[in-house]
Amino acid sequence: MEKVSCTAVILAAGKGVRMRSKLPKVVHKAAGKPLVAHVVDAVRAAGIEDIIIVVGHGREHVENFFAGQPVKFVIQEQQLGTGHALRQAEGTVDPDSTVLVLAGDTPLLRASTLKALLEHHQKCQAQATVLTTFLDQPAGYGRVLRDEKGSFLRIVEEKDATPEEKQVTEINSGIYCFQASAVFRVLQQLQPLNAQGEYYLTDTLEILKGEGCRVEVMSAAEPEEIHGVNDRVQLAQVEKILHRRKNLQLMRDGVTLVEPDTIIVDSDVTIGCDTVVLPFTIIQGKTSIGEDCEIGPWTNINDSRIGHRVIIESSRVKEADIGDDCVIGPYAYLRPGTILQEHVKVGDFVEIKQSTVAPGSKIPHLSYVGDATVGREVNIGAGTITCNYDGQHKHPTIIEDHAFIGSNTNLVAPVRIGEASVTGAGSTITRDVPPHSLAVERADQRVIPWKKKRDH
Ligand code: UD1
Ligand code: CA
Repeated sequence: MEKVSCTAVILAAGKGVRMRSKLPKVVHKAAGKPLVAHVVDAVRAAGIEDIIIVVGHGREHVENFFAGQPVKFVIQEQQLGTGHALRQAEGTVDPDSTVLVLAGDTPLLRASTLKALLEHHQKCQAQATVLTTFLDQPAGYGRVLRDEKGSFLRIVEEKDATPEEKQVTEINSGIYCFQASAVFRVLQQLQPLNAQGEYYLTDTLEILKGEGCRVEVMSAAEPEEIHGVNDRVQLAQVEKILHRRKNLQLMRDGVTLVEPDTIIVDSDVTIGCDTVVLPFTIIQGKTSIGEDCEIGPWTNINDSRIGHRVIIESSRVKEADIGDDCVIGPYAYLRPGTILQEHVKVGDFVEIKQSTVAPGSKIPHLSYVGDATVGREVNIGAGTITCNYDGQHKHPTIIEDHAFIGSNTNLVAPVRIGEASVTGAGSTITRDVPPHSLAVERADQRVIPWKKKRDH
């Protein structure tokens, strides 16, 4: 088969009125990323690199999300219909290519379906191929009408359909392949003579057919895949499906999910094999987790990197980087900018932010560590606080290798604790401590003879 270049055009200029939102519909997130990003990822996974997004309403939100990615934009100033939307891409598409047209609000599409559609289109040497499916409840979708031989006749929108046409259960997915020069030629002939007064992309198929061009129907889509999102109820339904799919994929790839119905993992998360995720755990955004970890129960991680053999129990981890063999929790709170190198222990009720902890160090209980650099093999005693904020500015704390911070130490930043130095329990350290020293700051204990009022 002759290899034809392919461009994907994703229609995403509409407002999505039924979302009742300040944001355009396609940037609403499902399973951690915008609806339109799911579509773009499916297109890429199908091997198509040349991607154009038609933007209009709230376009800065769409453009910002894709900043730096190899995606082109064309603008549809006024949203006059799907046919008008595709027309905006005319100058950007090679006339000899195949155009794959999709909508930005169908995040459940699979790459395999797009590949099958393209293959069918090229094998039949069609000028247009529409992807369809059969729905028990086709309301709201365009219906695909065929002649008595089963060949394509036209697509009629719900709002323009007669009662008999509404009985048809084969629906237009809104996904098509076109021979580029053919579709752009007939787009110019469209008239908005329909109930919505719009330029319907669907009419191009009927025009092409009337010209004697080959118009194919591929009724292969899984009904689930063409599920569009029009309101927030459908957004929630789609997200549930994405999460379920993700869990199945993880389990097939060698991750154990204990009671998977209680575990939520976003689409872009990666988890290595033999990691076990325990119930009621939520893993979001661009998180990667290595092999042989134990995550959960009751843990929430987002946008973090977790190494191999890490244990995280009942904790919150946000934009952090956790090295191999760390043990975290229960009830730790690791905030943005936390970097734990290998073999670090962070125990219960410890909060860390914007700090680096070198290998082998331990912060086992009840501490706050902020804007700190902690060396190797350091032990930070229970109740230690880095006093990093003077009310106006944040200041750094440096704790060098092998230091031992006594329980309930206040480290008033900026301050440095030298290598292998020790602070006495209960000390408030306001000046740097040189290496190999003991810093104690507290009143001597007095012992006074005393008799309590009541004898025991
Ligand atoms: C469209 C199809 C319908 C199909 C359905 C599948 C037409 C006329 N109808 O209907 O047959 O069953 O999709 O979901 O094509 N858009 C623009 N600019 C516009 C109008 C729309 O970019 O001027 C974008 C929207 O942002 C959206 C997509 O095109 O992403 C589909 O538009 P929408 O209005 O949702 O079409 P439907 O009425 O669902
Ligand atoms: Ca739609």
